[in-house]
Amino acid sequence: MEIILLGPPGAGKGTQAALLQEAYGMVQLSTGDMLRAAVKAGTEVGLQAKAVMDAGGLVSDAIVSGIIGERLDELGNDTGVIFDGYPRTAAQAEALDGILSARGRKLDHVIELAVDEDALVDRITGRFTCAACNAGYHDRYKQPAKAGVCDECGGTEFKRRPDDNEETVRTRMAEYRAKTAPILPIYEQRGIVTRVDGMAGIDEVTAAIKAVLG
Ligand code: AP5
Repeated sequence: MEIILLGPPGAGKGTQAALLQEAYGMVQLSTGDMLRAAVKAGTEVGLQAKAVMDAGGLVSDAIVSGIIGERLDELGNDTGVIFDGYPRTAAQAEALDGILSARGRKLDHVIELAVDEDALVDRITGRFTCAACNAGYHDRYKQPAKAGVCDECGGTEFKRRPDDNEETVRTRMAEYRAKTAPILPIYEQRGIVTRVDGMAGIDEVTAAIKAVLG
């Protein structure tokens, strides 16, 4: 099964992708995570992406589609994939069709997480992750069970993303409205889009997505 989670910054794509990955044995492919890893490693891609990401803009279509293709080749064709944060433009949607068909894969579902933008600023500016395993938390909505200790790996160091400030978040949202939301009709025409209320609690959102995936 191949699915896309689509929604603006902070809609819960990464949170849900991680939960679905566990539940279905699929693999989460987050272009944001891959780009951040490239920035951290100081690769050529990372050097090109850093300034764009820090400003809240979109990295070039060729770069992100290239890394998705490479990652799929590493995975082989037997593992289902959850696309998180990709595609984000019409050119990426077109590239994804080619990437999938060349590997005998096809999209089964596009889940649109419908959310209220003002609430998202609060979600994003409050989030943090475990520095060791990347498990996600939030100042108010999802604290570790034991303060200062990661539930997943016991790590005690946490980090925040440099692009998670209000000004950059507003730019990322504008990019979503201008370039990403317009790709939904491509998938609506194929009858594979389901809208899920992303403002519900995390578990309720997961349950709604599972009801779609079966
Ligand atoms: P990326 O990393 O993809 O960021 P994003 O799309 O802005 O999405 P986020 O990761 O901010 O949010 P999310 O929807 O995953 O929410 P989350 O689950 O964390 O991209 C970053 C940058 O990389 C881009 O700006 C761009 O520069 C570049 N880039 C990446 N992909 C690209 C591409 N394809 N093309 C070009 N450039 C690309 O949730 C947020 C918080 O809310 C968490 O704290 C969570 O715990 C909490 N939360 C989640 N769900 C709920 C809920 N239901 N109720 C309450 N709290 C919740």
